[in-house]
Formats: sequence, structure tokens, C-alpha cells
Amino acid sequence: MTILVLGGAGYIGSHAVDQLIEKKYDVVVVDNLQTGHSEAIHKQARFYKGDIRDKPFLENVFKKETINGVLHFAANSLVGESMEIPLHYFNNNVYGTQVLLEVMEQFAVKNIVFSSSAATYGEPKALPIMETAETNPESPYGETKLMMEKMLKWCDKAYGMNYVALRYFNVAGAKLDGTIGEDHTPESHLLPIILQTALGQRKELTIFGDDYSTPDGTCIRDYVHVVDLIEAHILALEYLNAGNGSNTFNLGSSAGFSVQEMLEAARKITGREIPAKVVERRAGDPSTLVAASEKARTVLGWEPQYTDMPTIIESAWKWHVNHPNGY
Ligand code: UFG
Repeated sequence: MTILVLGGAGYIGSHAVDQLIEKKYDVVVVDNLQTGHSEAIHKQARFYKGDIRDKPFLENVFKKETINGVLHFAANSLVGESMEIPLHYFNNNVYGTQVLLEVMEQFAVKNIVFSSSAATYGEPKALPIMETAETNPESPYGETKLMMEKMLKWCDKAYGMNYVALRYFNVAGAKLDGTIGEDHTPESHLLPIILQTALGQRKELTIFGDDYSTPDGTCIRDYVHVVDLIEAHILALEYLNAGNGSNTFNLGSSAGFSVQEMLEAARKITGREIPAKVVERRAGDPSTLVAASEKARTVLGWEPQYTDMPTIIESAWKWHVNHPNGY
């Protein structure tokens, strides 16, 4: 079975390619290498460099390959950046998905697993956040992910396309052997920044606010190991291949960790001091985001294995120590 992975050179996409190949799928990767790295792509995958908005390019990939299913990771994904350049996000994320869906429809490819986000919910009214919660995105990024979900819904109704939308919470960690991992430039995510500080590449961690209504005053997030996250994608593919209809799932660990707790755990694991100072809140950060993930467990049979924080941090640390300057 041949799976097309869009964005297969990125942090999350490269872990998907790796795990699909391990599970004996035949894998085709499309990536424009805007934020991805060619070194991150598994050698057994067939790689086509190009942009999903380039329809003739994408049609050519679908002509050459017999695609049985699609995993769609190709998108811009920074909340803060999306506030500055929203049109870039609508173009790449929404228009890019439109072109992809047009080509899928043209080639009668019916199954797609799609990276959505907790950012579709906005500030939660109740915790943990259920899939049935209201969606009120507070950033163009979250809005694009919600629009992409809606495009899929209407394509399902009109063309019988089946989709699984996976709403990620905070993805972290790396493949346990440390060979692939997170390499963003510039980096904005908490754990890599903590570990770059541990390596001495940054002077200190800046903690964005300690006056939130949480036990230690810093923001709480639900961290999910990238390997567990990808396991859910493969289960979602199998779910669609078994003839099940479209669905939406949260992917998180259902446990919240504060910024301060993450820092302290990283200090223990790395044995480094990791200097930190508290600064102003970052605009748009909700105080607490924790997923209800029972639906993925009961419907998809998802059993995340690396839910303990030390494993998440240790795997990321191994990657950072092995690749201090990224790929
Ligand atoms: N943080 C700091 N200092 C830093 C970086 C982050 O204190 O240098 C804090 C943030 O304020 C936040 C927490 O650490 O409270 C996590 O921040 P990240 O930037 O790592 O992640 P976010 O929760 O902002 O965003 C993540 C994904 C997005 C997704 C969002 C969904 O990266 O793609 O969750 O809510 F949209």
C-alpha cells in the first residue's frame, strides 16, 4: 500500500515516514523544503521536491505513483507568525489543501489523515477539552486548520472523501534512537528552547509570564510524544482503510505540565543548570490546554506509550546532543 506523506521532511512528517516504512508501507514524500530537511527523509521513501500549491507538480506525482492514502502535514504552523502574516497562512495552508483535494478528487484517492490542531478551539471554556467543544480559533493559524477541516467535511459530502482530522496538542520528543528530531529555524517551541539553553546555545530560557491562574503561575500544556502521535496517524489510516467514515480526534496525553515543571524536569535529566528568567506574557497564550483523548483511545484503539515526561525530554535531549546544530 502506497502512502503519500505531504510535508514528510518536517519534524512530525519525518517521524511519520519513518514509522510507516517500519510498518512496511510504501512511502512517497512531497515537501518544498521550506522548513523541512532532506536529511530527515527516510532513504527508502521516494522523494518529490515541490510545493503542494503547484498543481501540475502534484498531478505529476499522482500520475507517477498509485496513491492509496494521504497523510497531510504540509503547512505553516506558528501561532505568533500567523498573526503577523495571516495571508501567507491562508495561502499555504488553505489554498494548498484546496489544490491537494482537487488532485485527490481527480485521481479518485479517497482517504486522508490530516494534521489539525488544538488551536482550532481557542481559549477553552471547560477542561479537559473534548472534541465536541466549541471551535473559536484565536489566531489565523488556528483558523486555517479549522477551514481545512471544513473543506474536508464538504469534500466528504460531495465526493465521498474520507478523512480523519487529528487535533494535536503540544507535540514533543524525538525518535528514541535520536536519529531524527525537531529542527526549526527560528525555534519557538518550549522544549527545544530549554534544551538549546542546556547546551549553552542560548543564554537563558525566557518564561512567558508567571501570573497565570495555575498552581505555579506558568502556562500548562499537554505534551504528546511524537512517536505516539504518529502511531495514532497509522491507526487512523487503518481505520479509514477498514471502511470507517470521517472523524475528528484530539491527540494529547491528558496530563498537563507547566512551563516551570518542564524546566525543572529538564534540569534533572540533562544535569545542566539551564538559566531562566520570567518575562511578560506572550500574546495569545491560553493559560491551560489539556486534551480529552479518550475518543482516540476507544475508537482508534490508540495506546500512547511514552506519556511520562522524562521519556519525552530524554528522547529530545538525545536528538539535541547528537545534532547540536540540527540536521
Ligand atoms: N514558552 C515559554 N518560553 C519560550 C517558549 C514557550 O515560556 O521560550 C511557553 C509558552 O508561553 C507556552 C508553552 O511554553 O505557555 C508552550 O509554548 P510552545 O510555543 O512550545 O507551544 P504552544 O502551546 O504555543 O503551541 C503549540 C503548537 C502550535 C499549536 C498550539 C495549539 O506549537 O502549533 O500548541 O494550542 F497551534
